Amino acid sequence: MTERIVLAYSGGLDTSVAIGWIGEATGAEVIAVAVDVGQGGESLETIRQRALGCGAVEAYVADASDEFANEYCVPTLKANALYQGHYPLVSAISRPVIVKHLVKAAREFGATTVAHGCTGKGNDQVRFEVGIQTLGPDLKCIAPVRDLALTRDKAIAFAEEKGLPIETTKKNPYSIDQNVWGRAVETGYLEDIWNAPTKDIYDYTATPEFPPAPDEVTISFQAGVPVAIDGVKVTPLQAIKELNRRAGAQGVGRIDVVEDRLVGIKSREIYEAPGAMALITAHKHLEDITVEREQARFKATVGQRWAELVYDGQWFSPLKRSLDAFIEDTQKYVSGDIRMVLHGGQAIVNGRRSETSLYDFDLATYDTGDTFDQSQAKGFIELWGMSAKVASGRDIRVAGK
Ligand code: ARG
Repeated sequence: MTERIVLAYSGGLDTSVAIGWIGEATGAEVIAVAVDVGQGGESLETIRQRALGCGAVEAYVADASDEFANEYCVPTLKANALYQGHYPLVSAISRPVIVKHLVKAAREFGATTVAHGCTGKGNDQVRFEVGIQTLGPDLKCIAPVRDLALTRDKAIAFAEEKGLPIETTKKNPYSIDQNVWGRAVETGYLEDIWNAPTKDIYDYTATPEFPPAPDEVTISFQAGVPVAIDGVKVTPLQAIKELNRRAGAQGVGRIDVVEDRLVGIKSREIYEAPGAMALITAHKHLEDITVEREQARFKATVGQRWAELVYDGQWFSPLKRSLDAFIEDTQKYVSGDIRMVLHGGQAIVNGRRSETSLYDFDLATYDTGDTFDQSQAKGFIELWGMSAKVASGRDIRVAGK
């Protein structure tokens, strides 16, 4: 029987050419797998037809946008995950959901190998292949750009020679990856890290320098999950989309960073994640009133480690699973409303309320009704400083000898 390969298919030039390229290089039949993670653009049916037109023997398409929002974006939100303090893991969280569908398609169509369009220099190859190793350890992996010398020029020549139903003229100088959680742009002119991004780079956000009137929004959460916007019930997917629209119109969530890739390269990235950044900001502020101090401090460390694991392609790893359990436990009381103003590139919280809040007005107030016994502070401070005071006494004693 002819060997079969499932290919992660985006509908773009490189993966369209990869269908025939892999076929010629290996003699295998190629099954194209397209997964909708809310990237917008063409319909799955259009992509399906193109895959078949480019020589795929089958095309598997999946609308995974709700699955992606519920099972990948929501955990990222609960973790307040920002890799290196900036990046909300846009591409990193989409790879594991695509991997799930690749493995599912491989089983359905009897494939032995999984192919993807990544280069050998990025994180995404790692995320795909480590994910495959975990969910389908018997499956082999192949990357035509990395392993079968499929360069851009060769891809264009191949598409023209074979008359593939794909445009080869539109030359985008950037490498772009996008989904409902955000958009990542890299390479080209951006590789000079002193170059400011030009306007044409952005798509999810309007220029924050010329914002429309301020937009006040109330986001309601239930156990860490966004459930309503301005009192209207929403699914996580709807919440992200609605905030992409409203925060995007105000230029919220533009990020320009040089980040550390897993493969050891520092690389310049432009991200725009208006919905994700507005949600993370709101969620963090709700945690500030609902999560106990020590739990909150520890959670910040856990969230950072979680972000690194996910960035590094360890979505399906045991440690990530354990950290998920911790994070989930912290979310029990993260319910309530956050009001924020979206304006000129910023999402600024100006009100919060929760039935499960730990904020105690009577303890906090400096006005009448104060229930905090200030006389206890003096003794507390004496003991709190004791250890450092003893050490300091020793330092002075030793220095004096
Ligand atoms: N540097 C980011 C990451 O590793 C974004 C990668 C985007 N991928 C792309 N093909 N442009 O998560």
